[in-house]
Amino acid sequence: MDNLKEQLKNCTKCPLHLTRNNVVISDGSINADIMLIGEAPGADEDKTGIPFVGRAGKLLNEFLAKAGIKRENDLYIANTVKCRPPGNRKPTKEEKIACGDNLKKQINMVKPKVIILCGATAMESFIFDKKLTISKARGQVFNYDEDKNIKLVPIFHPSYLLRQHSNAEGSPRDLMLKDLKMVKELVNSCKKTT
Ligand code: URA
Repeated sequence: MDNLKEQLKNCTKCPLHLTRNNVVISDGSINADIMLIGEAPGADEDKTGIPFVGRAGKLLNEFLAKAGIKRENDLYIANTVKCRPPGNRKPTKEEKIACGDNLKKQINMVKPKVIILCGATAMESFIFDKKLTISKARGQVFNYDEDKNIKLVPIFHPSYLLRQHSNAEGSPRDLMLKDLKMVKELVNSCKKTT
């Protein structure tokens, strides 16, 4: 891992290096059974070099805690790109391709049982059905093509939930909690069969 950090610290493979303050590589445990992949670092992440530490990250932490998933031990967190896109725009296809090998290296290193795809950008990097929206795909279990033992589960992005305040049955916040609890059960059932 330190090797990857060392390599990426000076990465100039895409134009995002021109405006970044920090390369944001990962947080959590490399021994985790669950990997969570977000879109891209925002301003707080760029400042600190740690993924999901801003408002969206704090909300994510609340949902993880309610679902019984420990951020530090049960999860390894990364993003589709490691540097902040200016103005928090979505990363381009070229930027995602330039950073794709880094993400694959992280998956191969962690060997998670389940990868949570957080939001549409992360989902589109792994599930190539153009008709699938995050609202339809969330909470479903897919196979990761390169290793059938690794499951993919798309969920809503916490930035979206910052604008959705209801916790009523069937609301986005309710579904987020259900999806995370399902991931926890899925990981436990994978453990029993391996
Ligand atoms: N949003 C993301 O997708 N990733 C982060 O690290 C922070 C916010």
